[in-house]
Amino acid sequence: MRIGVERILDGVPPADLHRASAVLSTRYRAEIRDGRLHLGDDLAARAYLATRLPATFAAIRTSLAAAAERLPDFAPTSLLDVGAGPGSALWAAADCWPDLKEATLIEASPSIRRVGEALGSELANVAVGWRAGRIEDGLADAEAADLVTLAYVLDELSPAAGEQLISRLWALTRGLLVVVEPGTPAGWRRILAARDQLIASGAAVVAPCAHASPCPLVAPDWCHFAARVARSRRHRLAKGGEVPWEDEKYIFIAASRHPVPVGAARVLAPPRTASGRVALKLCEPDGTARERLITRRDGDAFRRARRLDWGDALDEGT
Ligand SMILES: C[S@@+](CC[C@H](N)C(=O)[O-])C[C@H]1O[C@@H](n2cnc3c(N)ncnc32)[C@H](O)[C@@H]1O
Repeated sequence: MRIGVERILDGVPPADLHRASAVLSTRYRAEIRDGRLHLGDDLAARAYLATRLPATFAAIRTSLAAAAERLPDFAPTSLLDVGAGPGSALWAAADCWPDLKEATLIEASPSIRRVGEALGSELANVAVGWRAGRIEDGLADAEAADLVTLAYVLDELSPAAGEQLISRLWALTRGLLVVVEPGTPAGWRRILAARDQLIASGAAVVAPCAHASPCPLVAPDWCHFAARVARSRRHRLAKGGEVPWEDEKYIFIAASRHPVPVGAARVLAPPRTASGRVALKLCEPDGTARERLITRRDGDAFRRARRLDWGDALDEGT
């Protein structure tokens, strides 16, 4: 994917990329919904490749990994991705589940679709079908798939359109539906709404929650995770930053059509470690969120807890 991205970006003047990245970033931050697609022209599509694709790929990939950990026997062969952009979810799914054979990617913007098609030609083993389509048209021609993904799209839709889309995507899900959003309070609220809707439709919560009870977090707190992303030289130039990495904050919900065993507790914040102790903020299988203090006296549990990171699920016995 990186090689393909570099090839597509070769020859784009860095100053143009920098300007287009700044416009894109402003539009995303302000969640502007003015009827225009953020990726409406070729330069915006290239700016997305340079500055957003590495981060959305990392967030989707980590979300899929959390779902795969809970569903070791799930091996999807088909993918449906809506609002596909340059195919970020396709790359993440193919990396997570090597049995993937075919993918349908629906995307409204011709500019980002062209870029995604060029990039996807680097991906062997998966037959990829790109479709021009607007979500508002109801995805009438879409076929059901084992895995359905919707990444960083709900924030571009009205709440009513988002609700309709989730219900359509759930109808098209044979196995697992994964919805990813920016890790902001607003992104969390959209994921909570999707979660409630899916549970009401009979879905089993796979991740990140350890349970299907109402979310125990109360605003101004919100649930989110972070994926570390290495920034290429071009990424740094486009963003005008010096730091060789960034942390992409994200939130997701993975829901299965089939029952799943009760989840393990999940770490909801960076663990706080001090000599001989680890404090973990956890989402617990009983539907609560609480802080657990694990000390050296807890023996093996302490050794396991010291290796845990934000977003990890606890091993048995921790
Ligand atoms: C932020 S990008 C996310 C792209 C990709 N899923 C990712 O995670 O990198 C949102 C994508 O959804 C597409 N999109 C937004 N509104 C849409 C609509 N109403 N119908 C179809 N695609 C839409 C945009 O063109 C854009 O490519």
